[in-house]
Amino acid sequence: MSQLLNKVAIITGGNSGIGFAAAQEFLTKGARVLITGRKKDAVDQAAAALGANAEGFLADQRSLEDADKLAAHVKAQYGKADILFVNAGVAILGSFEETTEAQFDEGMDINFKGAFFTVQKLLPLLRDGGSIIFLSSINATTGMPGSAVYSASKAAMNSLTRVLARELAGRKIRVNAVNPGPITTPILEKAGLSDEAAAGFREQISKSVPLNRVGDAGEVAKLVAFLASDESRYISGTEVAIDGGLTVHPLMQA
Ligand SMILES: NC(=O)c1ccc[n+]([C@@H]2O[C@H](COP(=O)([O-])OP(=O)(O)OC[C@H]3O[C@@H](n4cnc5c(N)ncnc54)[C@H](OP(=O)(O)O)[C@@H]3O)[C@@H](O)[C@H]2O)c1
Repeated sequence: MSQLLNKVAIITGGNSGIGFAAAQEFLTKGARVLITGRKKDAVDQAAAALGANAEGFLADQRSLEDADKLAAHVKAQYGKADILFVNAGVAILGSFEETTEAQFDEGMDINFKGAFFTVQKLLPLLRDGGSIIFLSSINATTGMPGSAVYSASKAAMNSLTRVLARELAGRKIRVNAVNPGPITTPILEKAGLSDEAAAGFREQISKSVPLNRVGDAGEVAKLVAFLASDESRYISGTEVAIDGGLTVHPLMQA
């Protein structure tokens, strides 16, 4: 219940989907939460819905200037932070041949470069013994056709997870990545799929998931809260899949 009592948690991209669910979970466990996002209305609305121990801060993860402003705000408001959940991301979908430079830059700048520098800027404010969690994806390793930029951005993030786990171990800061499979959030619709196409994708992929369904954001939030808490104090430098068994190799049939 109070596993995160009085911890200060920063969540990037917290106005929607998994980030918002994690904010709710952290608050339930006693933390104070700051969520970021790139749209003022969405961030304000989400922060209001989260209630008294939450606040919103406008920061585009693509912008290093915004990351500096975020760090200055965290320092002024809280002094230090305990948990950094680097969650903001976009899905860039489309064939390799048709991927444009603009799409490449958008995916890499938000999902990887932004994640990288958000951690770099906030690191001096992270308490020794703190926890960094990167929201990656099973796409980092699955080679899903039509996801070249997205998958590469997440693979880079997982590589960074391992390096930071070693570089920051001296400060007892743990660094882990969470690799979700398909989770119901608005991410596909934001990537340009129609409501029907997104629902069709989720229905189709459910058939490949051993547990026969997609996941929900609250389920990922519970895993993130565990990795943020002292309950996971000997876990660092790893990737944890939360995918209903999707990445277990399908050739081993009984
Ligand atoms: N849903 C899945 O199936 C799935 C599976 C594996 C991994 N993931 C990863 O999970 C993370 C969260 O995604 P989600 O599924 O919860 O989708 P979501 O509901 O769209 O959440 C993404 C969040 O990131 C924010 N964001 C996007 N670009 C940003 C930027 N440049 N600066 C600041 N915030 C930004 C979004 O804000 P806006 O509302 O302004 O877009 C939103 O708050 C992503 O990193 C995604 O790659 C999702």
